[in-house]
Amino acid sequence: MPKPYKLSALEGKVIAIDGPAGSGKSTTARLLAAKLGFLYLDTGAMYRAVTLFALRNNVSADDARALEAIALKVDIRFQNDGDVNRVVLNGEDVTEAVRSPEVTRAVSPVSAHPGVRKAMVLRQQQLAKNGNVVAEGRDTTSVVFPEADIKVYLDASPETRARRRLIEYSRKGVETTFEKQLEDINARDAFDSNRSHSPLTRTRDSMLLDTTNLTIDEQVERILKLVKARVSSL
Ligand code: DC
Repeated sequence: MPKPYKLSALEGKVIAIDGPAGSGKSTTARLLAAKLGFLYLDTGAMYRAVTLFALRNNVSADDARALEAIALKVDIRFQNDGDVNRVVLNGEDVTEAVRSPEVTRAVSPVSAHPGVRKAMVLRQQQLAKNGNVVAEGRDTTSVVFPEADIKVYLDASPETRARRRLIEYSRKGVETTFEKQLEDINARDAFDSNRSHSPLTRTRDSMLLDTTNLTIDEQVERILKLVKARVSSL
């Protein structure tokens, strides 16, 4: 493991990264957190864990009350395991299960319920109360951490994002096509950006990084540069 990269001026800070599905948020945030020695807070994984629990218990994505009750009740934890950020739901390792195509299809409508969001946002704020966190999701720059010290909005063309998802699934042996992934990405973009409660949006104080032509390493380097520039101006 490389030594965590530390800028003392970053001590106690929160870095919030938002962007659409497939923009590279998860990998970038995980690697950035590792470099800084910060906690990586994958807020999407929390919505996915609630969705997985609902699917397993035959709770419909329309049942706002039952979903809110699940969001308030389930225990969700993260465990750093080298290159993997493990998601633990009620004591069970669900890292792989929360990334299944079934959960991916159902998570947007589940996450659109205000009661579900309220419960998750409170937990996310609790997890970050001492700072030293890199959080990523759809509303971390706008709703969860409006006072975050550093905010980044990652974007990439829908085609690039669909191609990334295709590669991710083919590595896992899941059969799918580019067209199917593009359709899923467009549907999720529309849903996440147009929902009435805390939609995906780029806040005015977020730095924009288009990752269409960048590798993951380049993305992390660019963000580190942005972070350093921002920190020296804080
Ligand atoms: O980043 P992801 O693909 O794991 O996110 C899964 C879904 O969760 C996404 O379609 C929208 C929702 N989400 C959200 O509404 N707010 C967040 N902060 C993170 C994710």
